[in-house]
Amino acid sequence: MSPLEIPAEEFRRLADAAVRIAGQYLEGIHSHPSFPETSGADSERGLRLPLPEQGMGPAAMDALAEVIEHSRVNSPRFFGYVFGSGEPVAAIGDFLASVLNQNTTAWRSAPAAVTVERTVVAWLAEALGCRGFRGSLCGGGSAANLMALAMAREAKAPANEGGAQPGAVYASEEVHMSIPKAVALLGLGRQNLRLIPCDGQFRMVTSELEGALEADRREGKRPIAVVASAGAVNTGAIDPLEEIAKIARQHGAWLHVDGAYGALAALAAPEKFAGLRLADSLSLDPHKWLYQPVDCGCLLYRDPEAALAAFSHTGEYARSLSGDPVEGFAFFEESLELSRRFRALKLWLSLRYHGLAAFRTAIRSDLEHALALARRIDTQPRLERLAPVELSAVCFRYRSPDKSEEELNRMNETILQRVIRRRRVYISNASLRGKFALRACFVNHRTTGADVEAVVEEVLAAAEEVEGGGRDTSSA
Ligand SMILES: Cc1ncc(COP(=O)(O)O)c(C=O)c1O
Repeated sequence: MSPLEIPAEEFRRLADAAVRIAGQYLEGIHSHPSFPETSGADSERGLRLPLPEQGMGPAAMDALAEVIEHSRVNSPRFFGYVFGSGEPVAAIGDFLASVLNQNTTAWRSAPAAVTVERTVVAWLAEALGCRGFRGSLCGGGSAANLMALAMAREAKAPANEGGAQPGAVYASEEVHMSIPKAVALLGLGRQNLRLIPCDGQFRMVTSELEGALEADRREGKRPIAVVASAGAVNTGAIDPLEEIAKIARQHGAWLHVDGAYGALAALAAPEKFAGLRLADSLSLDPHKWLYQPVDCGCLLYRDPEAALAAFSHTGEYARSLSGDPVEGFAFFEESLELSRRFRALKLWLSLRYHGLAAFRTAIRSDLEHALALARRIDTQPRLERLAPVELSAVCFRYRSPDKSEEELNRMNETILQRVIRRRRVYISNASLRGKFALRACFVNHRTTGADVEAVVEEVLAAAEEVEGGGRDTSSA
C-alpha cells in the first residue's frame, strides 16, 4: 500500500475533526475581532514551520489552530475591498469538489462536473437577463477580464497566429486595475488603453468616449474593445451601458462589461443595469456578491465562436472523441485553463440550498446598508461623503476645517490605520480625484444594522485618537 493511502475510517476521523474546527470558527464569527491580533513577525513565527521529512499523522491538524488565529475571520463587520463573506453551504461543496477531484476540462474527463458547471453558468446568465450567453467559471474577475479581452483582440485584431497588432482599448478612468494588466499581458500596450474621463458620479462620459474613438479613427488606429464598468471598484458607479453599447457598435468595437463587483446586484436591482445584455462579454464574481468562498469568478459571452477563435488550440491527446454536443464539449476550447477544479459544485449546492430569492434578499440588504451608512455620514458634521452611493460602496472622509487637502489625506490614512488596529470594523480606502477616501463596501450576508452603525462610531473614535495626539484606545 502507498504510504499516502489512508483508511476510510482515518479519513472520517480527520474530516470530523475538520468539521468541528469549522463549526467552532463559524460560531465565533460574530464575536471575533474584524482583524486578528497578529503582526508580520507573529504570523511568520507561528506559521513558517519546517518542511517535515517524516509525517506526523493526525497531529498535523494541530497547527490549524494557529492558522485560524492568524486569519482574518469572515466577520459581519468586514467591509474592506470587494470581498464576499463566504457562505458555509458553498464551503461544503468546495470540500466535496476536492474529494471528488474532478478535472473539469471536458465532458470526456468529468461528465458530472462539466454538466453542473454548464448548468450553473446558464443559471447565472438567465438570472442576469442574459439568457443564451455561454461562459465558464474561473479564478475571479481578473481572469475573466483577461479572457474577455483576449476574445476581443482575436475578434477585432487577430493575434493568435501572427502576434499582436496595434489597436486601442477604451475604459473609464475609474476602471479596475485588472484591465490595464490584461491590456499589457495581451501585448496591446498600456499606452493604447484610453482612460475616458468620468462625470461627477464617476461614470464614463460618453461624449468623451466618442471623441477618443473619433480621434483614433482619424489617425487610423483600430478600436478593439470598450470596457464599461457595472460597478466601478472605488464607488460602485455603473457606466451608462446602453449608450456605450451603441457607441461601441457604431465604431465596430467589442463591448466588455466588467461586472466583477456589481453585475450580480442586478438580481436585486435590475433597473440599475439596463443594457447589461448588450455586452459581447460580461465578467461577474460569485465570490464577491454571491458570497461564495474564493475562488469563483465567471465570464459570460454572447458568441461561443468568438471564444473558440481565441482559445481553441487542442493538442491531440486532449482532443474530443465525440461529435455529440454534450459529450464532445470541452471547456478548454473556450477558456484559458486546461486542468480546472470543480468550482461549480459550491455554487450549485449553495443556490439549491438557499434558493435565488435568499440571495436577492441578502444583496438588497447590502444595498440598504450602504444607503443607511451614507445617511449616517451625511448627518455627521465631522464626516464628508466623497461619492454618490450607487451600489454598496460608501466613500467618505473625516474632515477638519483648517487642514489642507494634503494634510487631510495624511490624516485620513492615519485614521484608517487606527480603525483597522482597533479591530472592531474593517474598512479600506480609495483614491478619488486625489482625495484619500475611507471606503466601506457591503457584500456581506452577515452584516446587521448595528454593524453598519459601528463604522461611523469607529471612524470618529479613531479620529479622536489621531486629533488627540495619538492616544491609542484600541485595547480599551
Ligand atoms: C470592478 C472589478 N473588476 C475586477 C476585479 C478583480 O476581481 P478578482 O479580485 O476576482 O480578480 C475587481 C475586484 O475587486 C473589481 O472590483
